[in-house]
Amino acid sequence: MAVSLVAQVRMPGPSLFARSVNDIRFGCLSLARIRHHRCFSSTQSVQKSSVTRFQSADRLSGRTCLITGGSSGIGYAIAERFLQESASSIILVGRSQKRLEAAAADLRSSAGEIHSTEGTASSNVSDRIRLLVGDVGEVASWMRELEQEMAKVDILVNAAGVSFSSILPRSEPADISHVLRTNLEGAMLTSRALIRAAIRSRVRSRKNEDTEAIPFSKCIINVSSLLAVKGGTGAVPYAASKAGILGLTRSVAVEASASLKDLIIRSNAIVPGYIETPMISDFTPGEMSRLKDTIPLHRFGDPREVADAAVFLAQNEYANNCVLNIDGGLSAV
Ligand SMILES: NC(=O)c1ccc[n+]([C@@H]2O[C@H](COP(=O)([O-])OP(=O)(O)OC[C@H]3O[C@@H](n4cnc5c(N)ncnc54)[C@H](OP(=O)(O)O)[C@@H]3O)[C@@H](O)[C@H]2O)c1
Repeated sequence: MAVSLVAQVRMPGPSLFARSVNDIRFGCLSLARIRHHRCFSSTQSVQKSSVTRFQSADRLSGRTCLITGGSSGIGYAIAERFLQESASSIILVGRSQKRLEAAAADLRSSAGEIHSTEGTASSNVSDRIRLLVGDVGEVASWMRELEQEMAKVDILVNAAGVSFSSILPRSEPADISHVLRTNLEGAMLTSRALIRAAIRSRVRSRKNEDTEAIPFSKCIINVSSLLAVKGGTGAVPYAASKAGILGLTRSVAVEASASLKDLIIRSNAIVPGYIETPMISDFTPGEMSRLKDTIPLHRFGDPREVADAAVFLAQNEYANNCVLNIDGGLSAV
């Protein structure tokens, strides 16, 4: 990871949503912070937030889920929620073993807290969490391992993402390429790995007469951004990558149906506005307050609210090319 994506550019003048470059970065997070800490703590958030926690109802019982970007923010919240919904196995993907291990420890402790609050017996969460160290921007170098992991995956969540804040003429080609490779090509290659693995397992189940048909569809959930559909200043590569994610989502939904016949692969997307993940620490209190004023619900989203959308998309067998805004109404402004 040689490139530095930390840009110091601050743009004067108005943009559609806000005045500074940082302000318009829905989901933009400097690589420096990605490297140094995972600020979002689900357990802290549970105590502080007034967000309703849905009662788990075993909605994902028996499913295996692979979540890129599962060590932090939205990906972490989705992992936590999927565990609460009795997913049988969660594979967290990220670039750092240390951050993945920290996330796994947090998931274990969060599961313990929930079980003790609800007075239920704690299942062995450790056995249900697996870690896979890999850079989704460099999938070619670990493609074989990824495809092996995908063999049993029912739900793929593409939440890994990076960005940097800079106007296009001042952006380095290497930084542009890094964002596109991580956010778009990464999601495309993990989707490709899931589909290839699904095709292989279908062939195997045809050969094995004892094996019953796959009970559920496979589901891909891509995390896009409001910048995919609304313009802003200072995030051209990021916006392009997130718009590409919507094209990827749409085309996979059609192509999978047209070419895979008896295999059902659903492809869906979530389009978050401002969500409280490590990116929020960039904002001054004044910026936060001004940004919240532009959002009809006057607050940023909680990652667990995005996770609720992911559960819906994973569970609802008619959700295909379903694109869900989770933005407090900002898309309407
Ligand atoms: N927060 C928002 O307001 C918001 C809004 C709209 C969209 N989004 C999108 O939501 C997704 C999650 O963002 P977040 O806010 O949760 O950010 P976050 O807390 O920084 O999480 C980003 C995750 O992506 C992983 N990651 C980054 N580059 C990677 C790579 N090359 N290979 C594998 N993993 C990689 C990070 O782990 P490592 O650094 O350890 O690899 C981390 O787990 C992103 O796609 C983002 O664009 C966020």
